[in-house]
Amino acid sequence: MAILAIDGGVPLRPEPLHGGFHGSAEIDDAEIEQVLEVLKSKLLFRHLAEEQGTSRTAWLENWYCERLGRKHALAVNGGTSALIAALFGVDVGPGDEVILPAYTYVATAAAIIAAGAVPVIAEIDTSLNMDPADLERKITPHTRAVVPVHMRGVPARMDEIMSVARAHNLIVVEDVAQSNGASYRGSPLGTIGNVGCFSFQQYKIITSGEGGLVITDDDRIYDRARMQADCAARFWEDSHAQAGAYDFVLSGENYRLCELSAAVVWAQRQRLDPIIARCRAVKRRVLAAIAGAPGITPQDVPDPDGECGITLTLLCDDAPAARRFARALRAENIMCGTVHDQGIPDRHIYSHWPFMMSDLTPERRAPWRHPLYRGAVRGYTPDQCPESLAVLGRAVMFYFDQFFSDDDANSLAEGVWKVSKALLA
Ligand SMILES: Cc1ncc(COP(=O)(O)O)c(C=O)c1O
Repeated sequence: MAILAIDGGVPLRPEPLHGGFHGSAEIDDAEIEQVLEVLKSKLLFRHLAEEQGTSRTAWLENWYCERLGRKHALAVNGGTSALIAALFGVDVGPGDEVILPAYTYVATAAAIIAAGAVPVIAEIDTSLNMDPADLERKITPHTRAVVPVHMRGVPARMDEIMSVARAHNLIVVEDVAQSNGASYRGSPLGTIGNVGCFSFQQYKIITSGEGGLVITDDDRIYDRARMQADCAARFWEDSHAQAGAYDFVLSGENYRLCELSAAVVWAQRQRLDPIIARCRAVKRRVLAAIAGAPGITPQDVPDPDGECGITLTLLCDDAPAARRFARALRAENIMCGTVHDQGIPDRHIYSHWPFMMSDLTPERRAPWRHPLYRGAVRGYTPDQCPESLAVLGRAVMFYFDQFFSDDDANSLAEGVWKVSKALLA
């Protein structure tokens, strides 16, 4: 058996192999031309550009409506803004509980609190997404909505989540920030629940640095989301006005997207499907090549044909095995990481959401202190979702980008075999 690099052997690869950025790594003349056109037009504000028919924000919204087969899209300045607008859209607010998974970016929880509702954390399962059985267990008379999050390109178990939601009359707000372009059993993510939220922040598959989008078929949700996303929504006469039912009951804020950002995503949109197609192919190749490797089980992916393929997660038997496995792989120059490590404050894990773990003690805005709230949540503890911490603890994650060659995929698989046979058999 080959000596592992961690034990002094020769590393499998001379150079580190790791995935990087997707859309932003491809920025070229297409994005530059779009931005230059906007600059030359001197119309950087959506509503001025829209009067001239040149608004990239409006084009982007129309493109998403067509692509996803939905009636309304609302482009905003970030994924967090998209979630807040959507939650206002579905009229979640003080007194309500909203269930989200234990593994999601801190912004999902922050958006629920910004909307005035109380986050309730559900366990994840071996899909690393919300466990539908725990979703059902966490429902109380105060539960109004659920936010399934499709993490790292992998769809959540939407059939089961939707059937729990229907049975309990819950609104479903999908957080698609990390899985733009993926689908679940033929339906694009973001179109299965009542409303879907996207992000164009730089770590996302296509990007403008910052940006986001809300998608829905529901006139009222759209009207309310738009009121929240623009305190001056009343005053812009444009395509949005056709939705019609504005009652202007929300004072709103300002989450409008700048035309310069919209221009970048507008150019990036053509990159989305090719990036996903390549990442999926790489992931399939790796999965086929590591089938049967000892001591590891791939993450359960609810719909492998629909996922983005930007990550591969392997589950070891326990956390110490995951740490040994990841460390030895990195010594072979196969980059990967454990997901939950006591020492690393990963903001994608609920126990590291500071405003909840600190109980917002001095903060009178904490939604669980609101007089309208009659539920039982009084605060949160880092150990309240043990199943989630356990599954994340034994997870080792690899990142793929569209630049992975077949040889890269082969060497990753070779590394997995080399290390798993030596350490996990
Ligand atoms: C799952 C998830 N939800 C929401 C967000 C918030 O998006 P943004 O950073 O664009 O506000 C992100 C990413 O940053 C995310 O990963």
